Amino acid sequence: MNISNRLTPRYFTLILSFMTLFLLFTHTPTDITTDSFDDSIFEASCSCKTCIMDFMDDDWFVYRYDPTITPLLNRKNSALRRDTYKWWRGLQPSSLRVNYTEVVDQMFSLFPDKDHYADTSPDRCRTCAVVGNSANLLGSHYGSLIDFHDVVIRINKGPTKGYERDVGSKTTHRILYPESAVDLDNNTHLVLFPFKIRDMQWLISTFTTGHITRTYTRVKSSIKADENKVMILHPAFIKYVYEKWLLRHGRYPSTGFITIIFALHICDQVNVFGFGASSTGTWHHYFDRSRTHFKGGPHGGDFENKTLHKLQQRNKIIIHKGYR
Ligand code: C5P
Repeated sequence: MNISNRLTPRYFTLILSFMTLFLLFTHTPTDITTDSFDDSIFEASCSCKTCIMDFMDDDWFVYRYDPTITPLLNRKNSALRRDTYKWWRGLQPSSLRVNYTEVVDQMFSLFPDKDHYADTSPDRCRTCAVVGNSANLLGSHYGSLIDFHDVVIRINKGPTKGYERDVGSKTTHRILYPESAVDLDNNTHLVLFPFKIRDMQWLISTFTTGHITRTYTRVKSSIKADENKVMILHPAFIKYVYEKWLLRHGRYPSTGFITIIFALHICDQVNVFGFGASSTGTWHHYFDRSRTHFKGGPHGGDFENKTLHKLQQRNKIIIHKGYR
């Protein structure tokens, strides 16, 4: 009895030491860290080396980026909040009285009525090139780099023919509106940027009767494009870009800026080409000598540029500077 009483504290110390050593060797600090967190925090959001949705702890990005917003319209998501409808109708006001719901119905009896790009997955690595129309592309030799992307989004009239070495030849998407429309090949998605209901009516007309030849200016009555590849930017998405990303600078986003935010929502990696002035400070197109005015006009050009540079600093996009 006495002996066992004397031994108990020693045995107790011995057992404690064993237990400590066991815990130390079987449960290293790294294990403890990993086990005590939810695995999903560390799960990559895509299978590219870097993903847009990585590091969602960045307050600046998280404040602006709404992963739940749907960039493209379909019948199911077409209802607009009263304030959205009012804001959108105010962009390019018209005295014509048109029923939005009827126009949406007509559009989606012609064009794919789908939940586009609801396919985010840790196994997906969708690389996208957004190609703006800046003359800084000339002499850049970016053509093959641009074509290497899964998705190549071009804007308005930006041509490829004759400029392949610098801008590439592949186009999977082209963002346009009636006044900037051009013919597309059968591999290209026409993505309408609707500033007004008349633009949606023009889209219907261009694939059917061809009766709309004017908006605020003359427009093409018909264009070549595959109607099974038509998509329409959602008016609520346009307002989201204006409010969240541009903090209401300018009157509405430029086509180039909205295209980059669109890419952030449908791609895992975004490379940007053909944005910005050329080294001489001029804002020419690569395909004509017309000057573009990004500082004035309806767009918050300076603010857009600053926002793009912040996106680059945060590794959400890479801006390829161009040559000239
Ligand atoms: O002139 P356009 O609007 O067709 O150009 C498409 C987009 O390309 C613009 O919205 C702008 O973002 C970008 N661009 C640019 N610098 C230029 C010309 C165009 O950043 N010199």
